[in-house]
Formats: sequence, C-alpha cells, structure tokens
Amino acid sequence: MDKHVLVINASPRAEGNTEALCDALIAGAKKAGHRTAKINVRTMDIKPCLGCYQCLAGKGTPCIQKDDMKEIYTALDQADTVVFASPLYWWQVNAQMKTVIDRLFAVAAANNMQMPQKEAALLIAAEDAREENFAQIVPYYQTCLVKNLNWIDRGMVLAGGVNMPGDVQKTPYLKQAEDLGASL
Ligand SMILES: Cc1cc2nc3c(=O)[nH]c(=O)nc-3n(C[C@H](O)[C@H](O)[C@H](O)COP(=O)(O)O)c2cc1C
Repeated sequence: MDKHVLVINASPRAEGNTEALCDALIAGAKKAGHRTAKINVRTMDIKPCLGCYQCLAGKGTPCIQKDDMKEIYTALDQADTVVFASPLYWWQVNAQMKTVIDRLFAVAAANNMQMPQKEAALLIAAEDAREENFAQIVPYYQTCLVKNLNWIDRGMVLAGGVNMPGDVQKTPYLKQAEDLGASL
C-alpha cells in the first residue's frame, strides 16, 4: 500500500547535510511508490508554544496561534509516516525542530491527548561520529516521538562525521536514508 510520507526538515542550511538525507529518503520512498512531501521549516514563520492551554479548552484549530504551523498541521493530518530531520545541535534536535515538536501538543490536545497514530523516522546530521554523540537524541526520539506519541518507529539514520555542506555525499548515510525511504 502506498503511504503518504511527510519529511519535516528543520535544518536552517539549504542543501546542507540534513536536506541531502531528506532528499535521499524521499527518493527511496518514491521508488517504493509512496507519496512524499517535504517541509522546510527554515522558510516558515513558526512561533514557540505559548503554553496558554487554549488547545486543551478546545480553542483554535488546533492552536490559537496563526502562523505557518497551520501548513504542518494540514500536512500531518494527511501523513501516514512523519520523518523528523534535524542537524544535531548541542546533542539534541535543533531549536527549529523543538519548536515544531512543542506545537504538536495542540494536536494531541485536540484529540483528548491521544495523537492520531502514525509511523515515525529520524534523520540526524552531526559533526561528531562517535556513538556517544547520539546518546541523548536516540532516547529522546524513542521516548518523545515514538513511545509518548504512541507512534511506530520505522528507523533512524544517524549521519555522524558530517559538518560542512556536502560532507554527507561522501558517506554511506545517503544510501541508508534512501533504503529507509524504500522500506517504509
Ligand atoms: C549551534 C550548533 C550546534 C551544534 N552541535 C553539535 C553537536 O552537539 N554535536 C555534533 O556532532 N555536531 C554539532 N553541530 C554540527 C552540525 O550538527 C553539523 O554541522 C551538521 O552537519 C549540520 O547539518 P546541516 O548541513 O543540515 O546544517 C552543531 C552545529 C551548530 C551550528
């Protein structure tokens, strides 16, 4: 069955390592017959969560803030699989991705704190290739984006050892991302 695969690219660097991973995953997903969409957070105006809990009170659709998060809410609604793609910043997803994740609270709130079930995958670009570099991002993904959302993990690509744009081209990680896309 073909799926709708939504890739959320939080890298501020156009055509950087994270975006190359996204494009490789999308190429694999397309080959497998899936429909794909890529959202580049860097082009969007997405404000941080206000913590106003208006979403819990049923106000907003699903959030009272009127900004480009609306586009992500619509895309999310249509997606079977959501790919979270971020450069590693200070051992975590970057602030752009964290802002998007915070704003997902409103979707859960609009659904009695039960996120609509989806599949998840993670793409990370990072300078440091050591396994310990990913010791925080992996449990964060598994806890917050898989267990907490009650989503199904479809895999991760942790592209360590890439720093300058284009570095990822010389690594096996693009193939890994393409294979992950094809396996969805
Ligand atoms: C603010 C900042 C924080 C970073 N923190 C880390 C880090 O904790 N670990 C790491 O391995 N690389 C870190 N990096 C390097 C980036 O993850 C790396 O350059 C990555 O390839 C960037 O992806 P992009 O090409 O999509 O921008 C950091 C870079 C920046 C700008």
